[in-house]
Parts: sequence; structure tokens; C-alpha cells
Amino acid sequence: KEVRVFAPATVANMICGFDILGFAVDHPGDEVFMERKAEPGVTIRSIQGDDGRLPLDPDKNTVSACVKMYLAHLGLSEEVGVSIDLIKHMPIGSGLGSSSASTVAGLFAINTLLGEPLTKAELMPFCVEGERLACGHGHADNVAPALMGGITLIRGYEPLDIINLPVPEDLVAGIVFPQVDVPTRDARQLIKEKVALKDAVTQWGNIAGLVSGLFTSDYDLISRSMEDVLIEPTRSILIPEFEVMRQLALEAGVLSFGISGSGPSVVAISKGKEAAQKAIDAIQAHLNQQGIESFQYLSAV
Ligand code: HSE
Repeated sequence: KEVRVFAPATVANMICGFDILGFAVDHPGDEVFMERKAEPGVTIRSIQGDDGRLPLDPDKNTVSACVKMYLAHLGLSEEVGVSIDLIKHMPIGSGLGSSSASTVAGLFAINTLLGEPLTKAELMPFCVEGERLACGHGHADNVAPALMGGITLIRGYEPLDIINLPVPEDLVAGIVFPQVDVPTRDARQLIKEKVALKDAVTQWGNIAGLVSGLFTSDYDLISRSMEDVLIEPTRSILIPEFEVMRQLALEAGVLSFGISGSGPSVVAISKGKEAAQKAIDAIQAHLNQQGIESFQYLSAV
């Protein structure tokens, strides 16, 4: 028995909701091909598209380590054997939930091969453990949308309480990945532990406004609300040309612009495709002029 699973890239934080909001895109994404073997144990047979950066050791690779945790939880470690081929279609350390997509694909694959003993909600804690292994912190705002699709809210972490939010029909995300490496681990260390109450009030007003706008497809409200006063001011320092990119995006008529996850990818959210496409074209042209290579992706939210 064998199965092939695709899991999508995700835009964590959705600009204003650090660690609690995220959405999935159509592409890029990672694939896992998993095959049952006669002998028990989890092995990684091959990894493509990682430039040799990911470990093949099943205890060190996040995908296999999570599959092993899952099997141990079900008491099947001594019975079930699988081999994994991981096919990465997106860059590592890009802020697009690269490790999450692989982990989610791996866990979904093993759960499918075994006849779905766990629900998606029950798979989620294993996905979060994968994030902890990958970057030292178990945030769920990449794995939740990668597994559930659409826009997800992590209402709480202990216990995990994940809610799917409505997706307005015309919401489009234009993403640019400037090819510089910003590991999530480093980008998290920069963040201040304490925030000013005044800024917290602005931020939770924005989060409530965004959620309300998603329920009513109120694009003006969505636009006003997608602003991050807590994290972006510090993190954007790691991203080359951030303020110029923002200016270009806003001139193109997008609803909002910000960092995707922990960066360096940036995201422009628009109503319909046109503004987002214009924004990412302008941003790429500018980065080119600066000698910075980049990739762009356009997708429905
Ligand atoms: N919420 C996480 C962060 C997402 O911003 O660090 C990382 O992709």
C-alpha cells in the first residue's frame, strides 16, 4: 500500500495575528510519498528539492520523527513500517511554512495508510510537535491551515482550540520570497517579550476587525485591520527593502502588505487578482534592480 499527499504552503500570522491566524495557499507546497514495508520502522528513502539541507536520519528529520511519534502514540511502533520520499517544492526558511507542509503531509499520509484512526483535530498535536522540532517553538499557525485548509484561528494553545474562519471569495495573496535566509528560530528571538498596553489594544482591535471583516466580506474593514504594530517593526529589519516593497504594494492598490510568517517572504493581500499581481511584479522588478533574486506566487486565499 502506498499514498502520495500534497500539503500547501501557508501564510502564518495573517499580518496582525501573531501565532493565532494563518491561511493556506494553492501552491507551492510539499509532497510526501509513503509506502508500507514489511519490516517495522520509519525510514527516509529520498529527499528532493532541499539542496541537501535536510537530514535523512529518521530521528532527526521532522517528518519521520513526527510519524514515529504518531506510531508510538498508537502503540504501533513495533508493527508498522513505512518508507518516505519527501519532495519539497518550496524553499526552506522562506516564511511560507515549509517544514509545516512537509510534517502535515507526512502525518496525513501515515494516518491515511492506516485507515484514518485519528481525526484531523487529533493529528494536530503531532503537527505542532513537528514545529517545535523544526524551530524550537510549537506554534500552530502554519500547521493548522496546512492541515485544515482555508483561514484558521488558533483560539487557544492549551488545549489546542482551532477554528476555521470564512474565506471571502475574492481574497487573493501575492507572495514574494526574496532569496535571503531568515530562520524562524532567529526571527522569533528578535521579538520583544513585553508589549505596551496601547499597542496591544491596537493589535487586538485589528484582529477582531479582521475576523469580523472575514465574516461579512467587508474588504475595507479587512484592509484597515491587517496591520501589525507589535512584531513587524522589529522583524522587518531582517527583510531587505521592506519599506520600499510596502510602498510599491500599496501603490498597486492592495488591501494590505506585511511579512509572511517569520519572513523573509512578504505578502500582499488584495481583492481580486489584479492588484496583487501588479504588486508582486513591481516588488520583483525592484528587488532585481537591487541584485536580490526572488520568487513570486499568486494564489487564492
Ligand atoms: N507565528 C510564527 C512566527 C510563524 O511568526 O514566528 C512562523 O512561520
